[in-house]
Amino acid sequence: MGHMDRIESLIARMTLAEKLGQLTMTAAGYTVTGPVIAGDSSDAIRAGTIGSLLNLFDAGQVLELQRLAIEESRLGIPLLMAFDVIHGHRTLFPVPLAEAALFDPEAWALTARDACSEAAADGIAMAFAPMLDVSRDPRWGRSAEGPGEDPWLGAQIARAKVHGIQGAELSDGESLAAVAKHYVAYGAVTAGRDYASADISERSVLEVHMPPFQAAVAAGVAGIMPAFTDLAGVPMTAHIGLLRDRLRGQFGFDGVIVSDYNAIAELMRHGVAADLTEAATLALKAGVDIDMMANAYRLGLPPALASGAVTMPEIDQAVRRVLVLKQRLGLFDQPYRRGAPARSAEARAASRQLARSVGARAIVMLRNEHAALPLAPSIARLAVVGPLADAAAEMGGPWSLAGEPATHVSVLAGLRSALPGAQLQHAAGVDIQSPATAGIPQALDLCAAADAIILCLGEAANMSGEAASRAHLDLPGQQRAFAQAVIDRARQLGKPVVAVLFSGRPLVVPWLVEQADAVLAAWFLGSESGNAIADVLCGRVSPSGRTPMSWPRSIGQIPIFFGQRPGGRPLQAHDPYTSRYLDEPNEPLFAFGHGLTYGRFVYNNLRVTPERARLTDIIEVRVDVANMGTRAAQETVFLFAHDPLASVSRPLLELKGVGKIELPPGESGTVTQYLPAAELRFLGVSLQPVFEPGAVEILVGPCADRAQLLLQAIELCADEGGSPAR
Ligand code: NOJ
Repeated sequence: MGHMDRIESLIARMTLAEKLGQLTMTAAGYTVTGPVIAGDSSDAIRAGTIGSLLNLFDAGQVLELQRLAIEESRLGIPLLMAFDVIHGHRTLFPVPLAEAALFDPEAWALTARDACSEAAADGIAMAFAPMLDVSRDPRWGRSAEGPGEDPWLGAQIARAKVHGIQGAELSDGESLAAVAKHYVAYGAVTAGRDYASADISERSVLEVHMPPFQAAVAAGVAGIMPAFTDLAGVPMTAHIGLLRDRLRGQFGFDGVIVSDYNAIAELMRHGVAADLTEAATLALKAGVDIDMMANAYRLGLPPALASGAVTMPEIDQAVRRVLVLKQRLGLFDQPYRRGAPARSAEARAASRQLARSVGARAIVMLRNEHAALPLAPSIARLAVVGPLADAAAEMGGPWSLAGEPATHVSVLAGLRSALPGAQLQHAAGVDIQSPATAGIPQALDLCAAADAIILCLGEAANMSGEAASRAHLDLPGQQRAFAQAVIDRARQLGKPVVAVLFSGRPLVVPWLVEQADAVLAAWFLGSESGNAIADVLCGRVSPSGRTPMSWPRSIGQIPIFFGQRPGGRPLQAHDPYTSRYLDEPNEPLFAFGHGLTYGRFVYNNLRVTPERARLTDIIEVRVDVANMGTRAAQETVFLFAHDPLASVSRPLLELKGVGKIELPPGESGTVTQYLPAAELRFLGVSLQPVFEPGAVEILVGPCADRAQLLLQAIELCADEGGSPAR
């Protein structure tokens, strides 16, 4: 029997209750990721009134429930098991924002693939990932889960992650269905407060927030999850314009749309649905196929059907999409395939090795004065202090549901194994958040007795991720007082202080950056955190991560991002009537893309050809890069464009490409990037793509700070019938 025949004949035999069951996803209750929790699902599975489950990841239990569905339900339709496989599964990789700092599609795909093979071994078939919400507001805790501030970067991550999660074939036992989330503009929540309304221009939605989702759809993503939020008053869970018309209609997405947790019921809270029936009607009409945790479809759709508010073909269409996905995942043919084999010891060791190397590469060295890093081999006594120095459990970061904190490597443990001959002393000094300061004196004594001080500071793992917005972005608790005391003491004694900063977002810590000799943004790097950090501190790995979000100088600069427009009064140093703050520079503390290495790179000789490009041309961008430092390192080379004169004012920099080069000290090489001229199209006044003739600046360099970029202008020319030259 052909696949479609199987599905159509099933649909023909299903009762309404069984159909609504296929549209219902319930939490198994083992892991909690939302406010509503369901109990034992066994009876509902036998009755065929639950089609998928989330939050269960024990292979034995998964297979037992699957057996109930296959053997004891009337139609034997397999269950779909879903889980938040956000940055690894049992082995944790760096949080997504940290991984973004690699600017390396191959690594992004590899970690996704690895995480999925672990999750598949636990019986999971669907990952609620990748999270693709562009964020320009570090107050928003979910910045940690996403690609950072740039849409082009988000699109690259989307592509790599979908390929990594889904593999070549969804039916492969180690492939999972990816769910790109949260569609769309969730990162634009007002004032960075989670779940708040987003109200931004259609242009911003399309230019900034949409590209990653478009890329995910183009890469064949199996699922999409609408955001909890409303966009200018229309909740995404009921957004006909953006779900049905844009996503399904224009982008041709024919996969499954899974609501977020309880989001259909929350349409009542949004104030757009009077009751569960209306909420269910709105969601189904917009194209939402699976109701996660609201029980809205099971309770609300029968009355909606009776009143004619929804039709049976509409319900059948959603059921069909769910069954087609189960079919594509191979669940009908081999329902017990995922969850069967335990992973071998070698596979687990390889995952840890991957976590370590990706972790080291995600670290962004924000500052390194007086050659504080790498630590000199002569250092015999090291003080490893601060509340995050020996905090193995925190290292996983947010969304580490299946992680195994007992196996996480702390900074202290990582340094102990990297420096077996050295004397390492540890004191926390203060807690991450508590007001207690009694431990400070002892920690200061340790610092006084050491040759160098590693000061481990930052957020707790649960201070970023969902429901973790912050209005203050300095170090929590008494950490600032502690760090200041350590720095003051170290300065008196002439000892170097290296700050290792843990966070799920850029923090606002200019005072620390000014005073510490070196600062590493270590984000949350997962299971191998301490080893990865030790690799960088001790110089086994030259840091190469680049920040995917701008680091503000103060909260008042937020939202902050490099892709700003010039405005009519761009900042002029001596003119007060230009765009500025009275009390703070406009520039961030660290621009997007900033990140030092143990090398020192100098850029020269930018060559962009052809100098006149048509829509179909591929522009070749070449630049010479020399490592003038004393150590080998990898440089990341950013390619930006700026259209200085167009029908719509364009951002001062738009990211268009990233290249890499690895160079020993004293050597130089050429980085070549290819930019299709078609990528220089933008949305014109009527929000349709246009290719406008005229000059375009191509800028290349180490980060989004214009002063550090080399520039060459080229001319775009119209093909026959193009728009008039400007
Ligand atoms: C709510 C979150 O917004 C979403 O990202 C997640 O996948 C679901 N909960 C399930 O845990």
